[in-house]
Amino acid sequence: TELTPLKDIYEDYFLIGNAVSMAELEGQRLDLLRHHHNLVTAENAMKPEYAYNANREFDFSDQERLVNRIQEEGFELHGHVLVWHQQSPEWLHTEDGQLLSRDEALENMYTHIEETVLHYGDAVIAWEVVNEAMNDNPRDPEMWRAMLRRSDWFDAIGDDYLELAYLKTREVLDENGWEDVKLYYNDYNDDNQSKASAIYYMVKELNENYAEEHPGELLIDGIGMQGHYNSGTNVDFVRLSIERFRELGVEIGITELDITAANTGELTEEEEKNQAVLYAQLFSLYKEHADIISRVTFWGLNDATSWRAERNPLLFDRDLLAKEAYYAVANPEEYL
Ligand code: G3I
Repeated sequence: TELTPLKDIYEDYFLIGNAVSMAELEGQRLDLLRHHHNLVTAENAMKPEYAYNANREFDFSDQERLVNRIQEEGFELHGHVLVWHQQSPEWLHTEDGQLLSRDEALENMYTHIEETVLHYGDAVIAWEVVNEAMNDNPRDPEMWRAMLRRSDWFDAIGDDYLELAYLKTREVLDENGWEDVKLYYNDYNDDNQSKASAIYYMVKELNENYAEEHPGELLIDGIGMQGHYNSGTNVDFVRLSIERFRELGVEIGITELDITAANTGELTEEEEKNQAVLYAQLFSLYKEHADIISRVTFWGLNDATSWRAERNPLLFDRDLLAKEAYYAVANPEEYL
């Protein structure tokens, strides 16, 4: 019996996405991907380190093969990611290990953004411009600049590196007539209220600054809530974060959803049920906020290939068969 496609169930609400590598674009994995999803994110291939060859020259050949397949299959593509402190080439230090000057680091950041944005053009519907820039549990969310993660980007450029990254991305898109590509800020622990609050103040200030010169326009169009949850997650906190972000007038993308079980190894019946209930609570919440939630993307197709495989966080099992969690997403009301 064919399962009802999730993308059909949620057609009037939001796009349904998944994270892919080449392995998801062939055979049985492609069948499952196509059946339920209309959007994809490259799980790794579009991160900065994969855009360069060993001589630090731009080389998008691997991505091109992936993106061509994605387009042939008719999926929308969500861009992950331009500026991150992980999975990036070693371009912030000199050969003897010194951190670059602000000007040198900025030039590297701008070059990366410009080349990458020009390369993809409007083949992406959105770019996560900056990923995971905020500390966990910031003490004083309103002082968001002081709460930023002390990454090499921060150390080399300063607390304005985010704003400059968004301005550069916006400029390259505008110059080329790609105004429809949305700019996202993306982060995890999005249910943590002090972190959500710091992100709120950051997006608020950067968008207010931008609006002074561009009345009525947004610099940051959307907030990506990664959604890497676990069996102890309280969906009421996810709700509070969504309600908070709503005040900013931005859209929300659920960008990397998965929910781990309490234990490693095969799921017990109870664990599978608990996981399903959490998925149902989330989708019921997402439906309530569907006017601002643009997309919900799962971070992997099935448990076997998840980055947290040992805790079985996804909708399909090792044999690609639907778990209780699939039925909960398909019919949340029955699981509440
Ligand atoms: O491609 C190499 C391969 O050549 C090498 O032999 C192998 C040996 O370790 O590593 C392979 O690279 C791995 C890569 O995934 C591709 O499979 C890296 O080691 C591994 O660290 C990397 O993990 C990814 C992780 O980001 C890195 O931070 C996960 O697949 C990916 O799911 C995960 O995704 C992140 C999001 O980008 C941001 N938010 C959190 C999320 C989960 O950590």
